[in-house]
Amino acid sequence: MRKLAAGNWKMNGSLAGLGELDALAAACPDAACEILICPPATLIHPMVARIKGGGIAVGGQDCHAAGAGAHTGDIAAEQLRDAGATHVIVGHSERRADHAETDTAIAAKAAAAHRAGLCSIVCVGETEAQRDAGETLDVIARQLAGSVPDCATADNTVIAYEPVWAIGTGRTPSDNQIAEVHAAMRAALVARFGDGAGMRLLYGGSVKPSNAATIFALPDVDGALVGGASLKGADFAQIVAALDAA
Ligand code: 13P
Repeated sequence: MRKLAAGNWKMNGSLAGLGELDALAAACPDAACEILICPPATLIHPMVARIKGGGIAVGGQDCHAAGAGAHTGDIAAEQLRDAGATHVIVGHSERRADHAETDTAIAAKAAAAHRAGLCSIVCVGETEAQRDAGETLDVIARQLAGSVPDCATADNTVIAYEPVWAIGTGRTPSDNQIAEVHAAMRAALVARFGDGAGMRLLYGGSVKPSNAATIFALPDVDGALVGGASLKGADFAQIVAALDAA
């Protein structure tokens, strides 16, 4: 299983800022792990052109479940693929919250990604209130069952555990809390998919150069989905190096 360092630029970045990509590429020319950046849709094709096939994959942050049609403002998985993307994030908690995305809708988006030949990165994660209420494992189990489509395989699907309260806050769960959720996710995937359960499990939420090595040493953590610290090429390169060293 090749580990994955994925950056989610969210609604940040510009053509003028693509030098960060060059900095990242220059800092990790021989990375063993897979490196992925998911920029805003406007930057996907410019990034693909800039990388020229060298070492860094580019992905979308969302896709529509349909292949084409009257859906103003949306982007089909096939269009992401056409722009040169190889991956797409679906079900990020910011989209679940801002756009009321349901597990069923997210599963349809992931299935659309697979239809288009993209690898989906399906996000799950509890809110702080859910954690405080002792509901974390139930929430994760429900989101996994509902958001991961039956067509998911180790090749076309990555799962990202992103506790909502850890995103952009500088707070992270304890090592035991991360390990507990990742073990539960692995067990649920094995129970549902059997041999096809070798999907990579990423942790996301305030991953930084200073905490990456500790997180990557945990069992069943196969990489990270990184927000803020992926915006600077030099910072993200340190996270890539920590993943390679784990
Ligand atoms: P931060 O790394 O900024 O906490 O964001 C995590 C995230 O939401 C990645 O998808």
